[in-house]
Amino acid sequence: MKLCIIGTGYVGLVSGACFSDLGNDVICVDKDINKIKNLKKGVIPIYEPGLEELVKKNYKSGRLVFTSDLKEAVSKSNIIFICVGTPTKKNSYGADLNQIYSVAKEISSYIKSSKIIITKSTAPLTTGDKIEKIISKKVKKKLFSVVSNPEFLREGEAIRDFIYPDRVVIGTSNKRSNRILKSLYSPLISKGAKYFNTSRRGAELIKYASNAFLATKITFINEIANLCEKTDVNVEDISIGMGLDKRIGGRFLRAGPAYGGSCFPKDTRAIFDTAKKFKSDLSIIKSVIKSNENRSKLLLVRVSNILKNKIKNKKITFLGVTFKANTDDMRESSSLKMIPSLAKKGAIIKYYDPTGTKKEFQNLKNVFFSQNIKSACDDADLIIICTEWNDFKSLNFKSLSKKKNFIIFDMRNILSQERIKKDKIKYFGIGR
Ligand code: UGA
Repeated sequence: MKLCIIGTGYVGLVSGACFSDLGNDVICVDKDINKIKNLKKGVIPIYEPGLEELVKKNYKSGRLVFTSDLKEAVSKSNIIFICVGTPTKKNSYGADLNQIYSVAKEISSYIKSSKIIITKSTAPLTTGDKIEKIISKKVKKKLFSVVSNPEFLREGEAIRDFIYPDRVVIGTSNKRSNRILKSLYSPLISKGAKYFNTSRRGAELIKYASNAFLATKITFINEIANLCEKTDVNVEDISIGMGLDKRIGGRFLRAGPAYGGSCFPKDTRAIFDTAKKFKSDLSIIKSVIKSNENRSKLLLVRVSNILKNKIKNKKITFLGVTFKANTDDMRESSSLKMIPSLAKKGAIIKYYDPTGTKKEFQNLKNVFFSQNIKSACDDADLIIICTEWNDFKSLNFKSLSKKKNFIIFDMRNILSQERIKKDKIKYFGIGR
């Protein structure tokens, strides 16, 4: 099939690379001319395991093309995916849909033959209705259909999640579009993905409800972890014990710092905002947002307690600063709240991240990037494991540190408590 993907961010680039790898002709379009130039040279703008190889392979085969010429891309394709960003608006919980609507307006000038227009961007309820309205100002309704096809891939696992999704959700009442999209996704369906056709608004809400539910699950276990800390119970036992009930399921029950990233914080806010517009109160999601926003403060109080309220001049090392492992993404990472706050209180911060130095900390006084784990840890009073990179899971901290008495605060519970105990290191985890 001939596909046009508008926007080469996470969802767009991964979808483009994977669809072309499945044998489709894909044109990826982006307004950013530099990005397109780089992509043609095989320079990938994001850190995502396996993506560079996949892009290069399919670009070389000619099935994956990069351009900034939207008109040509639209006219050469039958299926158009809109994969542009939907960030949170300034001073509001709502999603900023300007990019989506301006793409809809622009492509409406180029549609001269039958097209299926799909939103893969995370777009709130009724966005599809508005896109249809915009396009129908210039194009006859029988020439196009607007479909919602939300994407459920995770950063760091994007390719695997795209190729082996639990489900493919297609929101359309248009039988022809449904048939064509079922055929586009047939290689994934034959590998076990469930295909679910629903209404367009239904698909839009499934995406937000799913992210909000997962965010709720994480926040729930984080609050249970707080209780565990006060009652000498191990939260991991609780996650396992709860997860063994198939109705609950064990995934996304890992307690840790506040959830972050470009999706859960933004999407919980957006669904709450959308519901408000429809005079519906999502009180659970409201509490989740609040609890998560409060979590970094709570963990900072714990850091302060661990250091017996003496933060000034203490050497604190952060291992991992991205919002989770296997990504270089800093968006809404809890390190963005914790590091500046501790530095302000006089701590001397070193941080190490496998994805390198971060511009977010460049201008902060007393915050330094370390080139390797050893130099980050050797003179630390407190080592905070903030991101669950594999690189940190089997470290011999005793041999890393020059100090006799240092403390580890493992915010991801990745270290073996038994081993740490054997090494006689003072250790704190989350809910353990
Ligand atoms: C999330 C969803 O998992 C994807 O299904 C969805 O497609 C994506 O958002 C999106 O809407 O684009 P992502 O943000 O890449 O994916 O990352 P997750 O793996 O879901 O992690 C999000 C946050 O929750 C991270 O900060 C992570 O550390 C945290 N988390 C996750 C926990 O604290 N505990 C867990 O058990 C799981």
